[in-house]
Amino acid sequence: MTLNIGIIGTGRIAHTQLAPALEQVQGARLWSVLSRETARAAEFAAQHGARAPVNAYESLDSMLEDPSLDGVIIATPDALHASQAIAAARAGKHILLEKPMATTAEDAREITDVCKHEKVELGLAYHLRWHNGHRKIASMLHDGVLGEPRYARALWTWQAEDNSNWRAHETLGRWWSLAGVGTHCIDLMRWMLLPVCGEVTRLGSVVDKSTYGGPHDETASVSLQFGDKAIADITTSVMFSATSRFELHCTQASVIAEGTLGPDGGGTITINNAPLDFEVKNPYVGEVQNFVDAIEGRDRIAVPGVEGRRNVELLLKAAR
Ligand SMILES: NC(=O)c1ccc[n+]([C@@H]2O[C@H](COP(=O)([O-])OP(=O)(O)OC[C@H]3O[C@@H](n4cnc5c(N)ncnc54)[C@H](OP(=O)(O)O)[C@@H]3O)[C@@H](O)[C@H]2O)c1
Repeated sequence: MTLNIGIIGTGRIAHTQLAPALEQVQGARLWSVLSRETARAAEFAAQHGARAPVNAYESLDSMLEDPSLDGVIIATPDALHASQAIAAARAGKHILLEKPMATTAEDAREITDVCKHEKVELGLAYHLRWHNGHRKIASMLHDGVLGEPRYARALWTWQAEDNSNWRAHETLGRWWSLAGVGTHCIDLMRWMLLPVCGEVTRLGSVVDKSTYGGPHDETASVSLQFGDKAIADITTSVMFSATSRFELHCTQASVIAEGTLGPDGGGTITINNAPLDFEVKNPYVGEVQNFVDAIEGRDRIAVPGVEGRRNVELLLKAAR
């Protein structure tokens, strides 16, 4: 059976990654598109080959009334996720939801509760979990090959041209660098460290918003303690561009990854200074395939609602 998947929001990530990834997955196809303007939805639908007889909408309710629509990918500003996801779940549609899942803890909880009640799959779009190098590191760590983790750090930044993006907006976004990339770093740390160290027990942060003086973080430094031994530092910024870096230091090995925090599944990784080979694959294809396979009962969602919710709770604490 081929699943019919709709895309909500026709912005950058939908256009450059999610719709092209959907084209490559097995067992699903782009069915329909929602935009604030039908003409933009129609253009996107034509560009990416959406297959529904009526494939372009500006009303979410009308899109969700389509009985042939099986699921949606939501790729809109963060503060819109909750109302759109809740509406989709109530219409019985499965959901792959962009990160961070919501801008309040209450919204994150409501999304997970409604999806559970309506028995629809809810996956969070943390594509770094589908980076093949990261997957090798996670397997080695979880299998005990690297020894016990003691310290990890991630640096991921970009240079924003100005503060006109919705992420810097008072209500459409809740965090800026922390939502753009920090939430990914939190998910990466949780994926790696949670199974071997246990939950986050402490969090400290320093947040700077001095350049634009807006409501949200421009540069943020967040420290997390996992269990009682491992510490993870995360630095994010929209004020400068730097090669991304992820380090994981364990009792038997040190992992250094450069340029792996990004969209393309590439970068370089060394373990104790020796290169780690991995196949460079588009991580968004893995992410969307996991969503499709979970709907069909062939796999479990990699990042379920409960993880998305915990991530939002940590973001809220970090920005406080
Ligand atoms: N996982 C990743 O690698 C990744 C990377 C980037 C972004 N994201 C996430 O994906 C989501 C979208 O981010 P993006 O970078 O694609 O943003 P974007 O380029 O600004 O696109 C967002 C889209 O949302 C729709 N939208 C609806 N109401 C809007 C409003 N009031 N203001 C602005 N846009 C509105 C717009 O589509 P219409 O004009 O058609 O309505 C817009 O094109 C966010 O949650 C973000 O965190 C994830």
